[in-house]
Amino acid sequence: MTTLELDGAARAKRAAGREAARHVRSGMTLGLGTGSTVRFFLEALAESLQEGGIGDVRGVATSVDTEERARELGIPLLELARAGTLDLAVDGADEFTPSLDLIKGLGGALLREKMVVQAARRFIVIADESKAVERLATRAPLPVEVVSFAWEAHLPFFRALGARPERRHGGDDASYLTDNGNPVIDLHFEGGIGDPVELEARLRARAGVVETGLFLRMADAVIVAGRDGGTVQTHTREGSPA
Ligand code: A5P
Repeated sequence: MTTLELDGAARAKRAAGREAARHVRSGMTLGLGTGSTVRFFLEALAESLQEGGIGDVRGVATSVDTEERARELGIPLLELARAGTLDLAVDGADEFTPSLDLIKGLGGALLREKMVVQAARRFIVIADESKAVERLATRAPLPVEVVSFAWEAHLPFFRALGARPERRHGGDDASYLTDNGNPVIDLHFEGGIGDPVELEARLRARAGVVETGLFLRMADAVIVAGRDGGTVQTHTREGSPA
């Protein structure tokens, strides 16, 4: 696709993806996130590998979709279980705050994404400017992955936390399941999440909750691109070495 054919959001995602590819060095093992922004990162990475700018790079995919795309592009892959510590994880986000807390998981890959980020020394987020929020869950719902067993039993609990829970449906498939075979409940919060740290603790303490899309104090940097595709800024989290 040429630049002219890309709309504003896609131009921004491509600019952010390309900027993140400049952080990759030869010999690195990489966490490869999921989503439309990451697709541009994968393309830029594949280009650098083909042109010989960098070499000996291997990636750990966070979803079946990313795994397939990376294979198509000729990016060597390895499994998380054999990867040890990753040098860098690059992933998109559905929202990021000024302190670089995130909501992720609208693409359903939250569990593997969090596992990969936790395995990485450094985590760079790539996003277009529309993902910037002052308070989490004002633009996107919070995805929560749960085990299938009695998933409806969580609904009163989620409501007691102030959320409007909605079981995710996938296109023509009424029962959306993640790559791990689990349902996702999207939690809508009127006015956003007041205390994300407390909410994360309460959700994680609930038996049957597998993972949440809250990525708190995990991102080292967010590369954010304007819809003109030209303005690219990198925000670094205070105290982070990135
Ligand atoms: C995937 O599960 C998500 O966490 C994505 O990283 C997030 O939804 C961003 O996707 P886009 O880059 O497509 O907006």
